[in-house]
Amino acid sequence: MEVVILPDAHAVAVLAADAFEALVRAKPAAVLGLATGSSPLPVYEELARRHRSQGLSFARVRGFGLDEYVGLVPGHPQSYAQVLQHEFAGRLDIDPANVRVPDGTAADLPAACRDYEEAIRACGGVDLQLLGVGTDGHIGFNEPGSSLLSRTRVKTLTEQTRRDNARFFDGPDEVPRHVVTQGLGTILEARHAVLLATGARKAEAVKALVEGPLAAFCPGSVLQLHPHASVLLDEPAAAGLALADYYRQTYADKPAWQRL
Ligand code: GLP
Repeated sequence: MEVVILPDAHAVAVLAADAFEALVRAKPAAVLGLATGSSPLPVYEELARRHRSQGLSFARVRGFGLDEYVGLVPGHPQSYAQVLQHEFAGRLDIDPANVRVPDGTAADLPAACRDYEEAIRACGGVDLQLLGVGTDGHIGFNEPGSSLLSRTRVKTLTEQTRRDNARFFDGPDEVPRHVVTQGLGTILEARHAVLLATGARKAEAVKALVEGPLAAFCPGSVLQLHPHASVLLDEPAAAGLALADYYRQTYADKPAWQRL
């Protein structure tokens, strides 16, 4: 796991966008793993800017969302399908049909989860998976206690996550209780995992994820098993890290030819 501590959220977004750009230029038909929540939004903004001003093309890219709420009416503005359409696909030259999100409206959710796994496999797997982290350490919607080898499935949100996400809805009661999420085992198969965390409210989860034990209690800690995981932090999110100076030194000394 490479930990990169940057001055602010903008620098985090630029470095993540650099990783996307390098991948898409080298492999125009890359498969991108797309996160929602507020942390990735500056990355999507930066990619849209590079698309507009530098012609960075996503025409052949395919994208897979990490997760989705169960039971929102189709087209609900807070469904992750809509959010990714609005924040990502709609601002790029990607074919919207090539961005898939788990189907939280399916009558047979387990079958929809199996189909989703199969669709990712059929595309050759995810090249770059963008991730945020919840204040309880979840990635995707894999809440504490998630099997470290889990696959796409239905999960129940913790009250903490429902409270955290209430800001996107009309009130806390509007936040669905159930979700469909790629599993931790699914996420581990992405070739490169890039997790972003910004702001002081993430410091505790970041400390547990990076320096705590590998444990289902902090689902994001599963990235300690990933052979190519980059954790990009701003200063407030990195505030609890015991080895912060070591991570800073390591990144400062990194050879220029070595990307994330
Ligand atoms: C949601 C998403 C996660 C995201 C988390 C953190 O629960 N399912 O993928 O990482 O929120 O969101 P934010 O970046 O807004 O703090």
